[in-house]
Amino acid sequence: MRVLGIETSCDETAASVVALDGCSAPKILSNIVLSQIEEHAAFGGVVPEIAARAHVEALDGIVEAALADSAVSLDEVDAVAATAGPGLVGGLIVGLMTAKAIAAAANKPLIAINHLEGHALTARLTDGLEFPYLLLLVSGGHTQIVAVRGVGDYQRWATTIDDALGEAFDKTAKMLGLPYPGGPNVEKAAASGDARRFAFPRPMKGSAQPDFSFSGLKTAVRQAATAIAPLSDQDVADICASFQAAVADALGDRVARALARFRQEFPDKDKPALVVAGGVAANRTIKGTLEALCSEAGFAFVAPPQKLCTDNAAMIAWAGIERLRAGIVGENAADFVPRSRWPLDSVSAPLVGSGRRGAKA
Ligand code: KG4
Ligand code: ZN
Repeated sequence: MRVLGIETSCDETAASVVALDGCSAPKILSNIVLSQIEEHAAFGGVVPEIAARAHVEALDGIVEAALADSAVSLDEVDAVAATAGPGLVGGLIVGLMTAKAIAAAANKPLIAINHLEGHALTARLTDGLEFPYLLLLVSGGHTQIVAVRGVGDYQRWATTIDDALGEAFDKTAKMLGLPYPGGPNVEKAAASGDARRFAFPRPMKGSAQPDFSFSGLKTAVRQAATAIAPLSDQDVADICASFQAAVADALGDRVARALARFRQEFPDKDKPALVVAGGVAANRTIKGTLEALCSEAGFAFVAPPQKLCTDNAAMIAWAGIERLRAGIVGENAADFVPRSRWPLDSVSAPLVGSGRRGAKA
């Protein structure tokens, strides 16, 4: 099985060919990701219109490069899989329309993929993980804990009621005058800071509600920064370190609850695993906290390579293979309309009272 995957839901234009032959491990034959960070940096965040235009300009070349790199011709591909949501609708339209055109011209089936499903199934591509397992997705757009029970069978156990975690890092960086994208720069500054100087809140810690919240923490950071302005480099480092410690602590509390719930719901699962995905999973303080939690709770900690944790098209191609293999390619994808919001779990209702960007999924 060979599937061409296309990803354009945010600020990466990506295409990839993934193959699965018999019982051997899947192979990523090509994985091209063009980041638009430079286009958006001046604005301190992703500008949807700029993103959509950049996808239009780049996608044809990226698809050609992915096919060339894989040494697989379009004829030899079994299906075309494209992200159809959730995400920025301009980019989704570019990716899905391109995929529809390629599929129609080459007479191949088209599979519309939920971007979150791509993240959810990546650990099976990289580590051959068996269902069920727990997924923590922490990116610029999403903060969720999902029980991954099978292909197309996901249950969201927690989501954010306001900002995504990556967004909280990015906004904190912006407040402190650090460049975009904020996460890596906050982590860098935090390395020389004192994490105990500011006692920032640990949002939702101890709450029976399983969800996340980060906007109160962001406000606390703003107030602390304003109170001691102008900020020295050491002030910035101390704020970053204290912010990161608060985030790791709050996140750890939420994840610990989910691990306990997983044990309860899947008591027969031998070797339960927590998988992390999303750009924030690169953060070493956060990773360290999660690793410690997992080892305490007897869970394997699975962190796919960073290149496959952040947005890419190999995960979309792989989700296409999983769906082909399971015989669930979904509704007639040629008629599929891109969905800016598309919950992975159609049962868990969107959160009431969700913030400015709403419950993304
Ligand atoms: O998964 P991703 O590359 O893209 C999407 O959001 O879809 O995640 C990007 C997010 C950004 O908010 C970025 O600031 C954050 O991940 N990030 C980090 C780190 N590296 C990236 N956050 C904290 N620490 C890091 N080292
Ligand atoms: Zn993503």
